[in-house]
Amino acid sequence: EKGGYDYFMLKEIAEQPKAVADTLLGRIDAAGSLTLDEVRISTAELREVDKVVIVACGTAFHAGLIAKYAIEHWTRIPCEVELASEFRYRDPILDPRTLVIAISQSGETMDTLMALRHAREQGSKVLAICNTNGSTIPRESDAVLYTHAGPEVAVASTKAFLTQLVACYLVALYLGQVRGTKWGDEIRAVIRDLSKISQEVERVLKTMEPVRELARSLATKNTVLFLGRHVGYPVALEGALKLKELAYMHAEGFAAGELKHGPIALIEKDLPVVVVVPSPRGRSVLHDKIVSNIQEIRARGARTIVIAEEGDEAVAPYADHLIRIPATPTLLQPLVATVPLQVFACELATARGNEVDQPRNLAKSVTVE
Ligand code: F6R
Repeated sequence: EKGGYDYFMLKEIAEQPKAVADTLLGRIDAAGSLTLDEVRISTAELREVDKVVIVACGTAFHAGLIAKYAIEHWTRIPCEVELASEFRYRDPILDPRTLVIAISQSGETMDTLMALRHAREQGSKVLAICNTNGSTIPRESDAVLYTHAGPEVAVASTKAFLTQLVACYLVALYLGQVRGTKWGDEIRAVIRDLSKISQEVERVLKTMEPVRELARSLATKNTVLFLGRHVGYPVALEGALKLKELAYMHAEGFAAGELKHGPIALIEKDLPVVVVVPSPRGRSVLHDKIVSNIQEIRARGARTIVIAEEGDEAVAPYADHLIRIPATPTLLQPLVATVPLQVFACELATARGNEVDQPRNLAKSVTVE
C-alpha cells in the first residue's frame, strides 16, 4: 500500500535512505572491508578479469554509466557500458576473462536477458545486479548481487536506481579490494563514507519543498535541458529520462563540455536548464569549467537551475535557482544529486495532471525485445 502517500513513486522516493542502507547491510564487516559472499565467482577468477562490460536498459543503464567511472578509477580495469538492446547485434568482443555485469530491477527485461545469454555463450562470466529475488536474469547468471530496495511499484525507477548505484560501488570497491590496487586507502575511506550515505540521502529529502515549488512553476514549459560532467553526466541523463517518462516533456541530458559542439544553439530566453555541479574539492578543474558553462548559458537568457554542494559559493551568482546537496566524495555524488531530479519530475508530472505511477505507453517490466 501507499503508506499515506498519494503515489507509490512518492513513497518509493521517501524509502530511499532505508533502501540504500539495506543494500549495504551485512556487506561491510567490522574491520571496514567488504564481504560479498554471494558473489560466487572466485577471487582467483576476479583477479584474472581484464575487461568489464555492463549491459542494462533505461535507468539501469544510467547506473551502469556511473559504475564505469568507479570501476575504472578503483580497479584500473577497462569498463564498457552498453545498452542491452544494442549489445549482441554488433558482435561484441567477449571471452572468459571478461566480466559482464547485467543490471536490472525487475530481472525480467528481455533485452538484458538476451545480452547476458549472448555473453555466457561466449564464455564470459555474468554477475547480475538485481532487485527481484528468483527472477530470470539472476537465475541465468553465474552470480547475483541483490539490491534490497524492496518491491518497486511505480513504473519510474527511483529507489531501485539508488540501490543499483550502491551495488555497483560495492562491486567496484570489491574488485579493487580483491586485486589490491594503489587506491587501497581511498577504497577504505570510501567504504566508510558509503556506510554513512543513507543519512545524507535522508537530509536531501528534508529540503525538497523549494524543488517542488520550482517544478510547479515550470508546468507550462515544453523543454528542459540537463547538463553534467563526470558522474554528473549520467545523472543529467537520468533527470531527463524521468522528465520524459513522467511529465511527457521534451528533455535532454548533455555532457556540459559538449555544449559548445552543438547543443548551445538550443539555449534561448527562459529555457530551464538544470546543471549538476561536481564537487569543488574533488575534480576542481571540472568544477571551474562547469561554472563557465553556467555563465555562458545564463548570458544567453537561460533560467539556470543549479544543483551544487553545500558550501560551493562560486556557483551562487549564476544560479536562478540553487538546490543544495551534501558534500560527498566525487564518485558518490549521484546518490544525493539524483534525488532532487526525481522529486522535480514527479511534481512536474502531477502539476501537468499526469498519472505518476502509471505513465502512458509504459510497463514496469519490459518482457519483449
Ligand atoms: C525508467 C525505467 C526504465 C527501466 C528499464 C530497465 O524509470 O524504469 O527505464 O529502468 O526498463 O528495467 P529493469 O531495471 O527492470 O531491467
